[in-house]
Formats: sequence, structure tokens, C-alpha cells
Amino acid sequence: MKKISIAIDGTSSSGKSSFARKIAARLGYRYIDTGAMYRAVTLYARRNGFIHTDSTLDADGLSAQLGSLRMDFLPNRETGRNELYLNGENVEQSIRSMEINEYVSAVSQLPCVREQLVRMQRQIGSAKGVVMDGRDIGTVVLPQAELKIFMTADPEVRAMRRYKELLEKGEKVVLEEILENIRKRDRADTTRKVSPLKKAPDALTLDNSQMNIQEQMAWVEQKIRQLTEE
Ligand code: DC
Repeated sequence: MKKISIAIDGTSSSGKSSFARKIAARLGYRYIDTGAMYRAVTLYARRNGFIHTDSTLDADGLSAQLGSLRMDFLPNRETGRNELYLNGENVEQSIRSMEINEYVSAVSQLPCVREQLVRMQRQIGSAKGVVMDGRDIGTVVLPQAELKIFMTADPEVRAMRRYKELLEKGEKVVLEEILENIRKRDRADTTRKVSPLKKAPDALTLDNSQMNIQEQMAWVEQKIRQLTEE
């Protein structure tokens, strides 16, 4: 069967990562979580003093080090899931902390960071058989991807999903606050100057407000069949 590249972009908490991971597992493709790469640069910047306590960034200092950063996605032997290694260290846990959440937005807006990561992502994506998710995959990183999907869901639905996830983790959360945070992030993602979140003209929209994961998989499998069996 012909191998293709799949680009998945969309709003935060739209279920992109679980969907992308599942598609990759189903097809035996590589799954690349580009958000993890922005998180890893943020971790590096924080550890090496490029993010000051007043939240200002030393962009020049960080920029000078970017070329020496090595990132590898390697499968975890137990779960089979790809995990991110930064200069040989597994950073999968450390990049998901609240501290990184707080700074990743600012770091991912730096043009030097975007240039470097886009270059790495294009190189990974140059081999077919990849599912990549992020904010600018269909528009900037893999504009030649055969299948581009733009995922979204109503803010209320996304907030409720996130709320349940956090409750399950035992965190104390207020639904209204999560909804407000999602609206704020939607605004920031779509209006930022550098690589704003935007649907590629040839992307298919998947609004999963009323769909479960099985329905989403059935939807995407049909699209994949059309592309790979011709
Ligand atoms: O998907 P995520 O929450 O792990 O992404 C972390 C941050 O990185 C988020 O602020 C958006 C940013 N990001 C980006 O600017 N471009 C991408 N291709 C992926 C993520």
C-alpha cells in the first residue's frame, strides 16, 4: 500500500495527539508530536538560564545553542509509544510540567526556535509514513502532505473533556476557569504573528464535538483508503 504523510493541526484540547497516535499505530507509521519539541526547547532554555525569573527571554543566547540540540523520538519498550529524547535524555515527563506549560508559548513564538524546529521536522517528514501533529504542520512544515486534517470542537466540549481528564488525575479544577483558558489559548494561537494556527486551504475539517474516537477513526480510515488505494 502506498505510504503517505499525514498532517494534523488544530485547536488545543481538540484531541489531536490521541487521534494522531492512534492513526500512526493503525498504519504502522511514525508519530511525531511537534508540541513536544517546542516543550523540549523550553525545558532546555529554562535549565540553562535563557528564561529569566521575570519571564523575559535571552533569545540571542538561546539562538546560539539551538544548532547543538539533538532530538530523537524513540519507542518506549513497554508501551511502544514514541518518547522524546533531548541530547540523549528522556524528557517525556519533564516537558509536561506546569512550569513548561507556563513558558512554552513565549518560547515557541521566537523565530529562531521556529526556524530550527521546522527544519528538523521537515527532515523527519521527508520520509513518507509519518503522522505529525501541531499547529503549522499542514501550512508550513509539510505543505505537501497528502492528507491534512484540521481538528476542532466547540470550546465547551473541549473544556469538559479537559475537566474530566484533570479530575481523573485528582486535580482540583473549576470548569469555568478551564473554558476561559481554552478561549484565551484559541485567541493567542490564532492571532499570534509567527505561524498562527490556521487551516490550510486543502485541509479537511474534523469537528469532533459530537464524535467519539471510533467514529473519528472510521472517518479518517475512509479518507486514507481513498488516498492509498488509488
Ligand atoms: O500541543 P502542545 O500543547 O504540546 O504544544 C505546546 C506549545 O507549542 C503550544 O504553546 C503551541 C506550540 N506549538 C507550536 O507553536 N507549533 C507546533 N507545531 C506545535 C506546538
